[in-house]
Amino acid sequence: ANYGQGESSGKIILMGEHAVVYGEPAIAFPFYATKVTAFLEELDAMDDQLVSSYYSGNLAEAPHTLKNIKKLFIHLKKEHDIHKNLQLTIESTIPAERGMGSSAAVATAVTRAFYDYLALPLSREILLEKVQLSEKIAHGNPSGIDAAATSSLQPIYFIKGHPFDYFSLNIDAFLIVADTGIKGQTREAVKDVAHLFERQPHETGQMIQKLGYFTKQAKQAIIENSPEMLAQTMDESQSLLEKLTISNDFLDLLIQTAKDTGALGAKLTGGGRGGCMIALAQTKTKAQEISQALEDAGAAETWIQGLGVHTYV
Ligand code: MEV
Repeated sequence: ANYGQGESSGKIILMGEHAVVYGEPAIAFPFYATKVTAFLEELDAMDDQLVSSYYSGNLAEAPHTLKNIKKLFIHLKKEHDIHKNLQLTIESTIPAERGMGSSAAVATAVTRAFYDYLALPLSREILLEKVQLSEKIAHGNPSGIDAAATSSLQPIYFIKGHPFDYFSLNIDAFLIVADTGIKGQTREAVKDVAHLFERQPHETGQMIQKLGYFTKQAKQAIIENSPEMLAQTMDESQSLLEKLTISNDFLDLLIQTAKDTGALGAKLTGGGRGGCMIALAQTKTKAQEISQALEDAGAAETWIQGLGVHTYV
């Protein structure tokens, strides 16, 4: 065919962000409420073209912030000996730079579009390898969790460098996701934790280990269907992430607002320093109330996701 199409969803990290870079486990799931589509077509033009809400024009002249996509595009064309000029159209409902894995999701959708265009089967290994190539440019030292979670159809229990483990994230509770509207700074945040580690290896190492411990506890809470226990591990993680300087004032305010409105637990999700926060509620009505309170407090957008077979929405 002379065109190809690929899709991917965003992702939410329930537990374990940052610590996952150091080999601790994390729990994440594809977030179907947000989606990116990549469409590739042959073009009768002199150059490759990119069409997106962020930038439209000659791909070679795309701004620096899109260099991960540019690099992936060039890599795929070269690897598969594609000489035709192409137009890549990207449509996304994943807010960019908010800890929802938008860069990994775009890379997943673009890789899928290329393989669809080439009519080649795409294995999970090759997909992850391509997305990781793009993520290294976007994030510097990615654990691979965004690549794994955005391209997955199911929740995962992820440990860096390990084959990943699908996980039944099935608990009778509702998750509220709120976007601060502030661009997160994953790359800087990951770098700052690394600096903290260099300066205070003992304390930082302990905090990271504790984050890993709470992720393991969270897994146990999910297996036991205990929303209260899961919530507690979320609160404990948030206070550690604050100590690691990953939170910020607005995230703290939204987390407090959620707790004041009756959330069982709340924390930031993803890279931090902006981006999104998540809160856990026992019922859908409570989740709606919390979601409203978060919007009243200034959240740019909120979503509600049921986590159990009985609560899935
Ligand atoms: C970003 O979504 C998650 C971080 O743990 C970075 C990474 O794992 O690559 C902050």
